Amino acid sequence: MAVMKIRYCGDPVLRKKAKKVKQVDDDLRALMADMVETMLEAPGVGLAAPQVGVSLRAICVRVPEDREAGDEGDAGDQDDEAPTWCLINPVIIKSTKETAEVYEGCLSLPSLTAVVERPSEVVVQAYDLEGREVTLEAAGLLARALQHEIDHLRGVLFIDRCDRDTLAWMVPDESDERGYHLDSTTLQEALERFERLRQQEEPQ
Ligand code: NI
Repeated sequence: MAVMKIRYCGDPVLRKKAKKVKQVDDDLRALMADMVETMLEAPGVGLAAPQVGVSLRAICVRVPEDREAGDEGDAGDQDDEAPTWCLINPVIIKSTKETAEVYEGCLSLPSLTAVVERPSEVVVQAYDLEGREVTLEAAGLLARALQHEIDHLRGVLFIDRCDRDTLAWMVPDESDERGYHLDSTTLQEALERFERLRQQEEPQ
């Protein structure tokens, strides 16, 4: 297994529509194992294949049971009991009219957060790593993480859906009980920062 390089906002692969997985085989299982390792190392609560540069409909999600709200990029207290879901060709087949507004983040947009309104509960149909059909009923942070990751498969990022007035950087801050404070920003400033981040990473 290996930790993969996470692609940042501005990378074209994040805006592509991912292809359906045709066959659940050893290559796919190896990819998913690497994705899970990458997600845990980040740490994050979810990762979609396009975020590691693979344009396929595959996601992994691992949400500690006691977490009701939070964001992809801040797994905080890792709960060893939390199940890891590896889902192939996931589709949302049902979602509630009731919505929730929660601060969200993304490993491809490091440190950025904003409030995103999404259905509170969803039912997701997908295939597992054995190629068996699975149906997942989810609420709370799991429902949110699933919707966020499935968005990635259509090239949609949380900044496309968020309340732009709430866009902010999470700035590490020991004096704040969350461990960070929010520093308000604009979409343009954020996009410019991620573009610089991407350029720094490119080999000279
Ligand atoms: Ni994301």
